Amino acid sequence: MRLLASSPEGVTDYIDADLRDPDRILTEAAKTLDLTQPIAGTVLGVLIFIPDDEEASSIMKRLRDALPSGSHLALTSTANAIHGERTDEAVRVWNESGSAPMVVRSTELITSFFDGMEILDPGLGPLSRRRRDPSAIGTAPEVDEFAAVARKP
Ligand SMILES: C[S@@+](CC[C@H](N)C(=O)[O-])C[C@H]1O[C@@H](n2cnc3c(N)ncnc32)[C@H](O)[C@@H]1O
Repeated sequence: MRLLASSPEGVTDYIDADLRDPDRILTEAAKTLDLTQPIAGTVLGVLIFIPDDEEASSIMKRLRDALPSGSHLALTSTANAIHGERTDEAVRVWNESGSAPMVVRSTELITSFFDGMEILDPGLGPLSRRRRDPSAIGTAPEVDEFAAVARKP
């Protein structure tokens, strides 16, 4: 609740919405955000719960299209490019648990979620090794949760 407290420096709001309804998310967000100015958007650890690739792509297109020029988008999504079958097995066990099922996606498909945007250095890769200060990466192991930040031209 503390994070929801707006102040003269900035306004905070919370929307209880399903990612499958991006129009509603955008309509509600526009009550707080000025969508004529560049914004920073995040889709972190949630697109994995939209198992249908076409639906995931359609949602991301809708969100990207709504971003004003100069906006940034950060996205994380699970791949299996590093650990292959070990990640597939971990996801299989997760999906047996009764939780919302998640999907593993190819790095090509994850990259396509940024279509029309410029993916910033160091590009799409393991979240554990994406730091603003490269010297802070240290010996962080490579994980199959992939991440990138992109800018809309
Ligand atoms: C791994 S957590 C990530 C949370 C947060 N984005 C973060 O990075 O800390 C996944 C979240 O996605 C939410 N979620 C799952 N399916 C969703 C959907 N269809 N629409 C909106 N949120 C969803 C879950 O309730 C959970 O809070």
